[in-house]
Amino acid sequence: MIQEENSDLSELYKKEESAADETIITLRPSRLSEYVGQDTIVETLQIAIEAALKRGEPLEHILFNGPPGLGKTTLAHIIANEMGTRVVTSSGPALEKGGDLMGLLTHLERGDVFFIDEIHRIPKIVEEFLYPAMEDFAVDFIFDKGIHARTHRYRLEQFTLIGATTRSGLLSSPLRERFGIVRDLDFYTDEDLVKIIKRSASILGITVDDAGAYETAKRARGTPRVANRLLKRVRDYAEVRAAGVITRDVAIDALNLEGIDDHGLSETDRKLLKTIILNYKGGPVGIEALAATLQLESDVLIEVVEPFLLKSGFIIRTSQGRKASDKAFSHLDMPMPGKASMGGLFDSRPVKKGK
Ligand SMILES: Nc1ncnc2c1ncn2[C@@H]1O[C@H](COP(=O)(O)OP(=O)(O)O)[C@@H](O)[C@H]1O
Ligand SMILES: [Mg+2]
Repeated sequence: MIQEENSDLSELYKKEESAADETIITLRPSRLSEYVGQDTIVETLQIAIEAALKRGEPLEHILFNGPPGLGKTTLAHIIANEMGTRVVTSSGPALEKGGDLMGLLTHLERGDVFFIDEIHRIPKIVEEFLYPAMEDFAVDFIFDKGIHARTHRYRLEQFTLIGATTRSGLLSSPLRERFGIVRDLDFYTDEDLVKIIKRSASILGITVDDAGAYETAKRARGTPRVANRLLKRVRDYAEVRAAGVITRDVAIDALNLEGIDDHGLSETDRKLLKTIILNYKGGPVGIEALAATLQLESDVLIEVVEPFLLKSGFIIRTSQGRKASDKAFSHLDMPMPGKASMGGLFDSRPVKKGK
């Protein structure tokens, strides 16, 4: 979940999430062996799971950090599956009071995976209940107030907490230190996304050729959730406008129609880059000012929009704020400040599709 309110632009990203959620059952891999990419994370988990199973012990607490749609929730479910345990899920914003957390914790059985999504959004008072729960598998109930206050320590079963966050920087260090395994998920390569698209296509009964899968993967912002969403858009297009087969041309035409260009940038991404270039002379511009100009929540900008633009080098983070890179200027065919006289160079560049 990203943000509830605000502009139609953040709505666009929210839809992306809920659209993917509907297909969780079918498209989400359930075993580690089906999980594409993130090789070192998968290997770490394979070893940890095998060792824990051999000792007959629950797994250590695990924290996954990374932008939305990269497979954090999927991993939590896979881990429970591989361990042969249940998974109980909650999220930071849902845990409003200590009691909410207590209720969930006291019902956990030995080895259960307790998954907390958006763990950086846990209220501070609730977080403090988590510390003894994670460390000593105990929670302290407090009865009465003031001088009559008494605490009762309640023992918990040994469980595995799996936290997912898009902003590990917002996690307090006491919380972070209580995780035995902390891993950052990275954007996927085009090759991995091709594998994911082919896998999803075969589950959904979609015919896609190699070039069609590659063109779709290339535009998926390094993100499996986006890849699956694009695949469905392209499938619709192929069924209505083509012979039902996703080829290179079908993928390109369908995604151009969606406003997604050959670098995977959407309308929102291009609007962001244009805003930095036109309103702020290429930057640097502070994230709050940028969010206000775009009428986006700054959290949406930081967690959803900007990570891929940073990773792919369209924007640069400086101490004064965000700057549009040379790559952004050239991708949008905009003259760079002070280099306007080099117009001839720009004219020779191929025209970008999907504007
Ligand atoms: N490594 C992967 N291999 C195959 N599919 C994946 C992988 N990671 C994610 N997906 C797909 O992308 C979707 C989004 O992943 P999810 O775990 O919900 O992301 P996150 O929790 O990080 O936002 C899943 O439903 C799944 O279909
Ligand atoms: Mg998730």
